[in-house]
Amino acid sequence: MNRWYKYVKPYLPFFILGPLCMIVEVIGEVVMPKLLSVIINNANDGTLTVASSLSVMGLMILTAALMMIGGVGGAYFGAKASVNFAADLREDVYARIQQYSFANIDKFSTGSLVTRLTNDVTQLQNFVNMLLRMALRSPGMMISALIMAILINPPLSVVFAVSVPALLAVIGIIIKVSFPRFTRKQKKLDTLNSTVQENITNVRVIKSFVRQDFETEKFETANRDLKDTGMSAMKVMIFMHPVMTLFMNLTVLAVILLGGRFALAGSMPIGDLSAFLTYVTQILSSLMMVTMLLMNSSRAMASAKRIREVMDEPLDLTDADAAQPDLPVREGRIEFKNVTFRYYKNSEDSVLTNVSLTIPAGATVGIIGSTGCGKTTLVSMIPRLYDADEGEVLVDGVSVRDYSLTNLRDGVGMVLQKNTLFSGSIAENLRWGDQAADDDAIRQAAAYAQADKFINAFSDGYDTLLEQGGVNVSGGQKQRLCIARALLKKPKILILDDSTSAVDTATEALIRRAFREELGGSTKIIIAQRISSVREADMIVVMDDGRITGIGTHEQLLADNEEYREIFYSQTEKEAM
Ligand SMILES: Nc1ncnc2c1ncn2[C@@H]1O[C@H](COP(=O)(O)OP(=O)(O)OP(=O)(O)O)[C@@H](O)[C@H]1O
Ligand SMILES: [Mg+2]
Repeated sequence: MNRWYKYVKPYLPFFILGPLCMIVEVIGEVVMPKLLSVIINNANDGTLTVASSLSVMGLMILTAALMMIGGVGGAYFGAKASVNFAADLREDVYARIQQYSFANIDKFSTGSLVTRLTNDVTQLQNFVNMLLRMALRSPGMMISALIMAILINPPLSVVFAVSVPALLAVIGIIIKVSFPRFTRKQKKLDTLNSTVQENITNVRVIKSFVRQDFETEKFETANRDLKDTGMSAMKVMIFMHPVMTLFMNLTVLAVILLGGRFALAGSMPIGDLSAFLTYVTQILSSLMMVTMLLMNSSRAMASAKRIREVMDEPLDLTDADAAQPDLPVREGRIEFKNVTFRYYKNSEDSVLTNVSLTIPAGATVGIIGSTGCGKTTLVSMIPRLYDADEGEVLVDGVSVRDYSLTNLRDGVGMVLQKNTLFSGSIAENLRWGDQAADDDAIRQAAAYAQADKFINAFSDGYDTLLEQGGVNVSGGQKQRLCIARALLKKPKILILDDSTSAVDTATEALIRRAFREELGGSTKIIIAQRISSVREADMIVVMDDGRITGIGTHEQLLADNEEYREIFYSQTEKEAM
């Protein structure tokens, strides 16, 4: 409970004023028929005078004005409270997702996270709004209309003793049938959203693979499912309204039959009968509103649960356990000690098995191996994108877990294999590496990454806007921008994960030379597919199926590592052809 109260507290006045205003409206609605009945009764028995009718009408106008103020106030405060509630909640969910580690993100799909952040929060917002407007209003109206009806004519009110329980029973059945249907519909909506999210994010890939038909079909399936479950839930609702109206009409009929008799016998003034009929409608329609509220609450509960899941997902990488939070990365010496890792903690096969490796500070290390053998996984352990399950990763002799995440990641610049730039200018993108970098530093980093030339060729230079994360630069240009961005951090450890795969060999050689000449103090780890990319490295690590099968210089490996030799000859033959 406390969890949600946090979002209510700052707006408590709105949360209180909203329902209070609605009560004012209810009182007006209940008083109105009574006032009208006075005029009708007086007209009927001939006691109506201009003065008395004017005074009653004055009261009616006053009531109407109060009702309007109540109605507008209720809507306004309700909106204010629910919108603010949702905005704060969204902010917290977003902040939580920002703290997620890669492993946390792997657990939810991106689509699901987006749905939870938007749709589910909106669902709660609507529910809070409805709750504020209806939670007091409907029961309030029901009870006060019931009291008024009993005050007008107790014997006639016996009608309610029959119709209200009967209606409650019907409502009970409807809720029982519809709850699971709405829950199912919510799940289908989630699937649809995830599908849409994935499709739209990757629309370029889909088009290039001419997979539109397939993807459209996938969407249609999700859409059809949603339609079907939606329809099954709607069917109950379709049924609900006429049934309730039927009950209402039957009750009205009973009141007219009984009340008509009383009126004819002279024991009930005709104005009272008309007021009584209005109360019948008010009582039964409030019951319907309460039903709607309950239905909505089932959806809101489902959304609340999904939001709770995001908030309660334990963060598996935190600073909390950092033993030396103020220690920066000073040299860049790296040591893997018997590291074993699996993405799925309960799976048998590990992605890395008992890997041990020592990299001296300032060395240039190449990593090579077949696709899927665990190269990316291995280097992800250095900036703690993932944590080793067994064994230890040390930087400068200190376990990576003992650094604060900020210090560790400031010290380790990593150009990811799947890289992204963000909408904004080139300079803004490069500044991700260092917010405070001046123009000279930016140019310098771009020059080392061999990006300076093509950036200057753009008419806006460093102010060129990258659209949608860089669709307007080429693949190789994008890679070089990503390298420049990492260089700006001046990291003690620089990791390039297949980051020059789209760069031509001549330019790549220039990048390597810049690294050698300008970044002598940094440890450089270069994952590559081409042997030419790592050939001059101080040491080359050969990996296969989660294990290291060879460590040495190009010449050493060529002499005694079968796998390395194979890769080398396959590539030189290709070049020779
Ligand atoms: N986020 C993830 N969740 C689950 N499994 C993963 C994840 N990332 C990688 N894997 C699996 O772990 C194994 C090693 O993947 P990794 O990305 O480290 O390979 P790699 O050597 O970098 O390959 P490549 O040369 O193609 O980049 C693969 O079998 C892959 O399917
Ligand atoms: Mg990889």
